[in-house]
Amino acid sequence: MADRVKFIAGNWKMFKDIEGAKEFADAFLKLNRPAGIKVAVCAPFLQLTTLVDAFAGTGIGVGAQNVHFEDSGAFTGEIAVPMLKEVGVDYCIIGHSERREYFGETDETVNKKLKKLFNTSDIIPILCVGEKLDEREAGVQQDIVSAQLEKDLAGLDADTVKELVIAYEPIWAIGTGKTATPDQAQEMCAFIRGKLASMYDQATADAVIIQYGGSVKPGNAKDIIGKPDIDGALVGGASLDPEGFTSLIAAAAE
Ligand code: PGA
Repeated sequence: MADRVKFIAGNWKMFKDIEGAKEFADAFLKLNRPAGIKVAVCAPFLQLTTLVDAFAGTGIGVGAQNVHFEDSGAFTGEIAVPMLKEVGVDYCIIGHSERREYFGETDETVNKKLKKLFNTSDIIPILCVGEKLDEREAGVQQDIVSAQLEKDLAGLDADTVKELVIAYEPIWAIGTGKTATPDQAQEMCAFIRGKLASMYDQATADAVIIQYGGSVKPGNAKDIIGKPDIDGALVGGASLDPEGFTSLIAAAAE
């Protein structure tokens, strides 16, 4: 099994202005974080420069939450990969369920965005997959995630996919306080790894960092991230407070 580094990424969604991002960074940098665990904060576009500057030289990564799949063009309101490169971000969330649900993101656009990021930058995509509540209740969650992976990763080769971060986020657990049990999360993350092994090979599957996301908090992080196929978390609400996020990271590192 590959030695995967644990990786905790915050997803601020549409929270915090520039002043709020500065305050977070000042407080966060004063707190002690365990070594040997990767940390990143994915912020709204306008707050990225502030965080890139604040976290320069600290090892803390900065991520965007979306990007367009063309380099430039008449796409009002969009942001392109070269623009993210210019700002100096390390990561970009792709295919978050909120973008799939409210902003017309499809597996096809997700696939184009992954290709653009991999082909033209060294920004690491954090690809989100996951099922809705009715799909979980119907017992088809693995079919849903399997189909997402096939479409989202179409045309990407093993060497590329090795660099990817995948976040398994059951939609019914996002922002609801309803977390998947550690066993449910482990079951799906192991399924995803098995699916990658069948699409590519075992070495590729073993290299991919697979996070769980959905109501991860300081109190449940240790049990979830302690599971063998769960390498970290994508954290929404609990990433907004520097002290809380730090204790979550500490719990995950245990
Ligand atoms: P949550 O969000 O931690 O607030 O549930 C997770 C996410 O949407 O990435």
